[in-house]
Amino acid sequence: MSMLSGGPHPALPQRGREIDGGLRGDALVRELERANLLGRGGAGFPVARKWRTVKANGNGRAVVLANGAEGEPLSRKDRTLMVERPHLVIDGALLAADAVRASDIIFYVGNEHRAAVSAMRRALAERHERAAQRARLVEAPAGYISGEESAAVHYINAGDARPTVTPPRPFERGIDGRPTLVQNVESLAAAALHASGALNGTALFTTSGAVRRSGVYELPPDVAPEAVVDLAGGLAKDVQAVLIGGYFGSWASAEEVWSLTLDSNSLRARGLTLGCGVLYFLPADSCGVDATARIMSYLAGQSARQCGPCVFGLGAIATATRRLAERAPQAEDLARLARWSGLLAGRGACKHPDGATGLLRSALEVFADDFVAHQQRRCITRRALPDHSRVLAEAVA
Ligand SMILES: Cc1cc2nc3c(=O)[nH]c(=O)nc-3n(C[C@H](O)[C@H](O)[C@H](O)COP(=O)(O)O)c2cc1C
Ligand code: SF4
Repeated sequence: MSMLSGGPHPALPQRGREIDGGLRGDALVRELERANLLGRGGAGFPVARKWRTVKANGNGRAVVLANGAEGEPLSRKDRTLMVERPHLVIDGALLAADAVRASDIIFYVGNEHRAAVSAMRRALAERHERAAQRARLVEAPAGYISGEESAAVHYINAGDARPTVTPPRPFERGIDGRPTLVQNVESLAAAALHASGALNGTALFTTSGAVRRSGVYELPPDVAPEAVVDLAGGLAKDVQAVLIGGYFGSWASAEEVWSLTLDSNSLRARGLTLGCGVLYFLPADSCGVDATARIMSYLAGQSARQCGPCVFGLGAIATATRRLAERAPQAEDLARLARWSGLLAGRGACKHPDGATGLLRSALEVFADDFVAHQQRRCITRRALPDHSRVLAEAVA
């Protein structure tokens, strides 16, 4: 059984619990550890380790917060999962609550994802377990930051979706001051499938850009990016780079990307991250400097504006990148970007500046020639591609 592609398993009820029997409690935690299930919300933290910590901290008072905020602009997988398999997400949350001995469950679902909110509300109403009846759904405000775990907790506690200075982290003191397990909804669904012995390690990918069919695809572990492209109907255009992992991920050049396998460990070994499973294929005739400038402007605009390095640092990065993209830079803009990209990590209350500057560093590497050209008020990509690549392809054919 898989998360999406097979649809609901024919042997399982369509309205209500999807998983019956199977592993529970410590046995499930051991299985998640054996399978090395990593979180699918972005950071790739081991699920079993988090469950153990929350159980140890919780004394039976813990809370499970199922994170379905999905603020990442290029991601669709969480909302798709909640619409297609809401009961699987609920199963995962119930199993997590049982394993960490939590007394409350909160489903935190992005308020812009209306179909997901309705599907989850409907599915919760269909459940009769005591824990499910006590569960509640909280609509997450729109925006990139509201899905960050301390922002989610702060919103539920105090109506303000801004990250809080940590520690204490939510696993120590979260909802109502109680240890809180914040877990992405896909991670919970995957845990439920592991409990039933059914999951073969698949993960969800959101694919867009130069593919024929943008969408959410489920793939087994260790596949090559070609497998995702095949499911997405093939490439509609030549590709010059791929954004892996979303706005907090990294650019990989087209040459590098076809040699990758899409599992967390091998990506990490290459300095990349699977993040939340986004794969955006940048067409060869689009400018990488411009694409990066758009992302930097967005991320700077999403700062929760409470930490100086994040507000001013990301603002300055966005402005300089925009000037470069418009081929109207100040003399030092490229040198400044190179310097600033190493200065902000670890200097905010949350990881927002770390994610943004990680993406910038990868752009400066992958689009190095383009950035130099833009500093000289030229754009290589627009001038030379796609004709140049076609001529090249014909010459080597
Ligand atoms: C700025 C920011 C935004 C985030 N947005 C989300 C989100 O929308 N959904 C999500 O599951 N995790 C998001 N995260 C990660 C969460 O803080 C947390 O690590 C995650 O929900 C834990 O679940 P996981 O271990 O299953 O991945 C975000 C992190 C940061 C720094
Ligand atoms: S680092 Fe940025 S986004 Fe994070 S809490 Fe500080 S100001 Fe807000």
